Parts: sequence; C-alpha cells; structure tokens
Amino acid sequence: MPKTSPTARPAAKKSNNKSPAVAPARDGKKPVASVSTKDSAKPPAAPSSGSSLEIKDTRTSKTYSVPIIDGAIRAPELKKIKLNDPGDTGLMSYDPAFLNTASCRSAITFIDGDKGILRYRGYPIEQLAETATFLEVAWLLRHGELPNQEEYDQFVHDITFHTYVHENMRKFLEGFRYDAHPMAMLNSSVAGLAAFYPSARNIFDETERNISIVRLLAKTPTIAAFSYRHVKGLPFVYPDNRLSYVENFLSMIARMSESKYEANPVFARALEILFILHADHEQNCSTNAVRAVGSSHVDPFSAVSAGVAALFGPLHGGANEQVLRMINEIGNVKNVPKFIETVKSGEGGRLMGFGHRVYKSYDPRAKIVKKLADDVFRIVGVDKDLEIALELERIALSDDYFTSRKLYPNVDFYTGLIYRSMAFPTDFFTVLFAIGRMPGWLAQWEEMLLDKEQKIARPRQIYVGPAERQYRSKLKAR
Ligand code: CMC
Repeated sequence: MPKTSPTARPAAKKSNNKSPAVAPARDGKKPVASVSTKDSAKPPAAPSSGSSLEIKDTRTSKTYSVPIIDGAIRAPELKKIKLNDPGDTGLMSYDPAFLNTASCRSAITFIDGDKGILRYRGYPIEQLAETATFLEVAWLLRHGELPNQEEYDQFVHDITFHTYVHENMRKFLEGFRYDAHPMAMLNSSVAGLAAFYPSARNIFDETERNISIVRLLAKTPTIAAFSYRHVKGLPFVYPDNRLSYVENFLSMIARMSESKYEANPVFARALEILFILHADHEQNCSTNAVRAVGSSHVDPFSAVSAGVAALFGPLHGGANEQVLRMINEIGNVKNVPKFIETVKSGEGGRLMGFGHRVYKSYDPRAKIVKKLADDVFRIVGVDKDLEIALELERIALSDDYFTSRKLYPNVDFYTGLIYRSMAFPTDFFTVLFAIGRMPGWLAQWEEMLLDKEQKIARPRQIYVGPAERQYRSKLKAR
C-alpha cells in the first residue's frame, strides 16, 4: 500500500485495542468541573535533615554553616556570604543551563540517569508502557494515583466531550501557508486557545484549572490533525467521539471517505505506547519553559505554548525529525563509518538521537521504542533507513568517543523511524511528541502553581558588559 497517509496500512482489521476512550461520550455525566485535585498533586513538605555544609570565605576568613536538605543547599543561603562592604549583595551560584541546580521539589517523575530508571509517580515506565492507557497515565501524572474505574470513565468522557475546537480555530489554521511547519502551527494555536477561553486566566480557581487541563488534552490532537490536513491540502476531519483517544487522532489524520475509520490496531497501540513514553520527563527544557512562563501566573494555554516552542528545538523534541534528516543524508549503510568520523571531528554536527543530559546509560524509553520498532517493522518491512540506524548504533556503542562520554541512543533515535513507517511526514514527528508530553506539562504546571515555595521565575546574572559611559551618538547629525 502506498505511503500516502499515516496508518493507511494493510490489515485494517477491527481494532481490539483496549485504549481509553473506547467508551463513547455519555451525555448526562457529571460536568468536567467536578474532577477534583487531590492532595497528592502537591509536592511533599521539605524535611530537615540536620546536616550542613561548612563554608569558609577566604576573602573575609569568615565561616558559614549552610543547611543541607534533601542533598541540596538553598542557593539564597549563599547571599549571607558577603564582603565587608555594605554594597555587596552576597554570593551567588552560577549555573548556566541548570547543570546542577534543582528549580523545584516535585513528586511527579523520578529518573536515575546512571541506572537508566524512569518512573511516573513511582510506577516503572516499562510497566506503564506494557499495559496502561495514555489517559490513565495522564490522570496518574496529575493526581498522583491511578484512577479507579469511575474516575477513569468520567475522565475519558470529559476528554472525549471536549475534542472539538471552535470553528474560528479552523479558520485560523487555514490562514497558514501550505508549507507551514506543523510545530509552528501547533504552538500558535495552543497559545491562541487563551483567546477562546478568557476565564482560564483564573488559575487559582480549581474548576477553571480542571476545564483548561481537559481542553488542552482533548483539543491538542484535533489541532495537530487539522495542521496535518491543512499542509496536505486535505479537508479537515472532525473528531469521532465513538473512537478512543488515539484512534480518534488517527481518524482525524487519515480518514478519507469511509463512514467510520478503523485504525490498524498495531499502529494504534504503538502510538499509545509512544505517547505514554513521552508523557513526562521531569525538568526537561520544555517543562522548565512551562513552569517558568506559568510562574508569571499567566493562563495555562500561554504557559503550555512555551513548552511547545521549546520542544520544537532540534536539541529537544525536534531531534526525532533531525534523526531522519541525518539518516537521509547518510543515504547508505556503507557511508556510516565516514559519517561517524565527521561527528567525532566536529565537522558533521552531532549524532542526533544520541546523548542525554540526565541519562548516562541507555535511555529506558529507547529500549522500549526499539522493541516497538520491531513490532511495527514486522508489518511494514525493514527498509534501508532502519539498517543505517542499526549500523549507526552499533558503531557508536563500540566507539571510544561515544562510550567515554556516555552517549547512548535516546528516545528520539528510533521514534522517527516508527513514525515514518506509519507514513507520518518528517516535520510532523515533533507534533506527536508534543501530544504525548501534554499531560506532563499540565501536571508540572499545576504542581508549580500549588507549591507555596514557588515565585515568579527570575534568575540572576553576572553582568559582564561595559561600565557606565556617556552617550555620544554615532548617527549623522539630525
Ligand atoms: N553527538 C556527538 N557528540 C555529542 C552528542 C551527540 N549527540 N551529545 C553530546 N556530545 C558530546 C559533546 O560534544 C561534549 O563533548 P566534549 O566533552 O568533548 O565537549 C559531550 O558529549 C557532552 O555534551 P554536552 O553538550 O555538554 O551535553 P548536554 O547534556 O548539554 O547535552 C543533549 C545533551 C541531548 C542536548 C546532547 O547530547 C545532544 O545535543 N544530543 C543530540 C540531540 C538529541 O538527540 N536530543 C534529544 C534528547 S532526548 C529527548 C528529549 O528529552 O528532548
């Protein structure tokens, strides 16, 4: 079958997927506003351990004792370390790119980068990817506990009920050029939702937070699919509330004239697993952006659009797109050794899909994705790009340049190959990442808001510019 549209694949058998929204929307259910935020969404209070760090300032010969709590010192404590000069505002810590600075206390996601461990609210990612549904994970991330059947059914109903977007949003998307990048469309549309729901600015009203969170989870796949159809020049497909979350998304992407779209169950489950794997990753670049922008107490649509923008970058979510572009450039397995040499010499840029700030061993998500790729490729067949990827991995894992720097494949290394085998266009890959990451951004945003220790994010700087000087215009006399 030609790769004309995602999931336009063989064996469009009736889905046996047990994914979340299998139950159709049931009118008469409780309104979404009744979903409550449990205390478990709040981070635990800071315990005091009684240990301290003794610091001697050799400039003044004074010594200071700084409490150690949870393996960290509080940077504001350093302000007490001052010169004998009333103008001195105290010592700062300098940490560009937050290499060793915790910006929050969080109860959502745990990562041990050395051991390759990832857990959402204590549950290993491997177990969640095996059996959970994406919406179950979305609930878990926000509320801290798995939903019971009643909570789950209500949640699925609420999400299903809010998948439609205002018709003006459709017109807004139609205003983009045919070659617009779908991440640019998604980013501006998510921000644009703030204009449709002005009451979302009441962020300390729990009812408003609930409905905004449901809207973002429900409408992001719709906006993403509309962006896809717009770029392809295809008519928009409206949500089908009889379908599950993932199947509905695939229907909005790929449905043509069928009266009811039936997704390939292997692809639907693969996509659901990929969404689960991407659902949260503690304080990554985009989550940090959501928290930082949200700390100004702006509405959640604006805060989350900052996350979409950060994710777009090639060092973050955009890496999945870049992996495929890199593989296309390499072109043939026999060119891999030469390409690796250019990476090592710095001429060829980075090996995209390799390396991670936190993981210094195999990214646990990459292991699951690699296995998933086997399932998908069993249906679509192995192509030369997968062979190139396998060869890149094989050489990199045995080359001292990569092993000495602890550079292993990350989640983005294989996801692009899976997405492409489902016939998604390359520039759409990061949009798929964004749909998956949405529950994490929202859980982290709410945790930040409810955390009494948080204030507007406002780092300090070390000024290295000119001292005061007098203005003398260099323009021609006016
Ligand atoms: N290819 C070649 N060399 C690399 C790579 C790579 N992919 N990643 C890091 N290095 C080298 C880097 O040049 C440096 O070498 P040296 O010590 O000689 O200067 C060393 O490894 C440490 O790199 P770093 O830039 O200090 O590491 P970082 O923690 O700041 O960067 C990273 C992490 C993910 C941005 C980086 O590894 C990278 O650019 N990877 C490629 C892009 C990518 O795949 N991103 C997706 C990340 S996973 C999904 C997500 O969460 O977004």
